[in-house]
Amino acid sequence: MILANQIDVDTLSDDQVRDLLSSIWAIEDKERYGKFDAMFPETGPYRRELYAKHMEFLEASAKYREICAMAANRIGKTFGMGGYAITCHLTGLYPKWWPGRRFVSPVRAWAAGKTNETTRDIVQTVLLGDIGFEGQRKFVDGSGLVPRNLIDRTAGGLSWKQGVADLVDTVKIRHVSGGWSKLGLKSYQQGRGAFEGTAQHVIWLDEEAPMDVYGECLVRTATTNGIIMLTYTPLSGLSDVVLQFLPASMQPGADDVLTDADGYHVTDLSFGAKGDDE
Ligand SMILES: Nc1ncnc2c1ncn2[C@@H]1O[C@H](COP(=O)(O)OP(=O)(O)OP(=O)(O)O)[C@@H](O)[C@H]1O
Ligand SMILES: [Mg+2]
Repeated sequence: MILANQIDVDTLSDDQVRDLLSSIWAIEDKERYGKFDAMFPETGPYRRELYAKHMEFLEASAKYREICAMAANRIGKTFGMGGYAITCHLTGLYPKWWPGRRFVSPVRAWAAGKTNETTRDIVQTVLLGDIGFEGQRKFVDGSGLVPRNLIDRTAGGLSWKQGVADLVDTVKIRHVSGGWSKLGLKSYQQGRGAFEGTAQHVIWLDEEAPMDVYGECLVRTATTNGIIMLTYTPLSGLSDVVLQFLPASMQPGADDVLTDADGYHVTDLSFGAKGDDE
């Protein structure tokens, strides 16, 4: 049998095969569990200079409390913008080039999607990975952006939502200061009422949120001077949430921008720098 680089496994000793396999597994492990560290490197095909709009999004938090990436599909809004930013805030592990706001203490954060199912399948997977088991106990496998070793594995570290299969309710994440950040997952489907409650430092709304949910999130972050991040492709036309983020020159009625049938135009907000898709 010939492996990729012309290694004839039949000629290898058992020890050499074992070494080779451990190297392959180590690479696979790094890819699967090292996503956070691999993001936005200095060099290579995914080097951060290619992600100008993503950098702009991250930098905006230094100046603004409400940040929106209203952009095309599949350009890394969930993974490279909202997901990456909230992971930095939850862990305090800001890279040395981080251009945005820094929280020096553990944060309380929410991440939310449209329905319970999309929150579980997209937001939860991007942050915490797939569902796994630790012995008999159901847990997340830590193959998302939040480094696996920072997810609290003690009894009270993670709770599941009632009535929805495999959707995390809250999870504690180790912050670089030594304390614990707390992440809650929510969905717009749960209604505005689910967004009432405690003050939050960071809220990430992946996919366009209804205005009442958005308003509630503004209240939740008011006393902490916290950040709200929205990452979505505007599929519902000129909704209230879309309108409030469109610059004046792109509002309905402005000249020379209303170029498509739906009456809005977002092409210069869309990003094209990402490398090949999965
Ligand atoms: N900075 C990045 N470096 C490497 N890969 C990335 C980066 N950002 C995103 N990706 C990959 O690109 C793919 C699309 O990313 P993502 O799901 O975040 O896009 P999206 O804009 O949220 O898509 P959608 O329109 O479906 O919501 C994913 O497979 C992700 O792993
Ligand atoms: Mg997305």
